[in-house]
Amino acid sequence: MNLKDCHNVGDFKKLAKKKLPSPIFHYIDGGSDDEVTLKRNTDSFNNCDLIPNVLSDVSNIDLSTTVFGQKINFPLFLSPTAMHRLYHHSGESAAVKAAEKMGTMFSMSTMSTTSIEEVSNLTGGPKLFQLYIHRDRGLTDNLIERCKNAGFHGLCLTVDTVVAGNRERDYRTGFSTPPRLTLGSLLSFALHPTWSLNYLLRGKFKLANIIHMTEKGSSIDKTIMDYINEQFDPSMNWKDAEYCVKKWGGPFALKGVMSIEDAKRAIDIGASAVMISNHGGRQLDGSRAPFDQLAEIVDAVGDKIEVILDGGVRRGTHVLKALALGAKACSFGKAYLYALGAGGQRGIEMVLEKMKSEIERDMILMGCKSVKDLNRSKITFRKN
Ligand SMILES: Cc1cc2nc3c(=O)[nH]c(=O)nc-3n(C[C@H](O)[C@H](O)[C@H](O)COP(=O)(O)O)c2cc1C
Repeated sequence: MNLKDCHNVGDFKKLAKKKLPSPIFHYIDGGSDDEVTLKRNTDSFNNCDLIPNVLSDVSNIDLSTTVFGQKINFPLFLSPTAMHRLYHHSGESAAVKAAEKMGTMFSMSTMSTTSIEEVSNLTGGPKLFQLYIHRDRGLTDNLIERCKNAGFHGLCLTVDTVVAGNRERDYRTGFSTPPRLTLGSLLSFALHPTWSLNYLLRGKFKLANIIHMTEKGSSIDKTIMDYINEQFDPSMNWKDAEYCVKKWGGPFALKGVMSIEDAKRAIDIGASAVMISNHGGRQLDGSRAPFDQLAEIVDAVGDKIEVILDGGVRRGTHVLKALALGAKACSFGKAYLYALGAGGQRGIEMVLEKMKSEIERDMILMGCKSVKDLNRSKITFRKN
């Protein structure tokens, strides 16, 4: 199997599984505890059906939308994900360039292996920075300042990761950052010599945004989970979030909002968007799927704030269903990381092309000329 055999997200996942050592693949693919939420995030899209309109002259259709003040060519963008250097030696540059080429937005994690300044030099396209609040508040301020100087268009504060989720697959596979050879993982690295040689011989693994600022950040020989538990601040509260909104002064999302009450408070502190998300099922297992929660949040706050659906998206129809319920756009993580592991920048370009063409074809079949035509009349939920 290779890239040309990949026709959908599931195919990229199969290829990534083949190409990546198992600790790396399962770090991307896994969720927390029993992975109930991980599974539910995608399954939830199947509880409802689309209702097409026919004879609608769909000879010209417009897939574009606006998020964080930026126009994107189709209503799906890249969620922030940590440590791209682990999945492919090209690191974040693959995702940055693929997103720009396809006319969508790249989101950069605090835990990136490429720095804010490097990403800014790589692209003039729409870019969002994802912030974690560290115990060292100077670090948070410094990241915001650097994003301003580097011309980022928006900022999202992740609020669902005050402690690390319980990722049992990682315990079993011996996942660590940077990867270390353990007896358990040795065979898997040996069986993937291309990945292993690229990892060893190309640029060194580093958490580029925080390397100069924390001693721990510069020499992470622990797991990423230890880092989260030691460095992220569990006392983070609404005042801190409001401080970040003000300090940033531009388009700002809270990422990881799941309750109506929190979505309303996001408006009160001046946020311009909420990303309805449970971190792709990697944090609180048993939490509701973003899609299941979407309609209620849109009804409560959708006229005042951008609502973005993040989690479980694997098909164009998933995006259409979220937009029909009132989401402004969707974002996705695992799907493009499988593609990164499967084939670097070309892999991500391909998965974005496939998703874009699915969205386009599905809109034509729905009789929708633009994303604005997707509304509640186009969707119905099944009884029980
Ligand atoms: C390997 C991996 C790393 C991630 N790293 C981060 C991160 O650093 N910051 C963050 O806010 N979310 C992170 N996420 C969560 C994503 O931003 C997003 O919420 C999630 O992937 C959406 O679900 P999906 O994977 O089903 O599309 C990560 C997800 C994955 C799979």
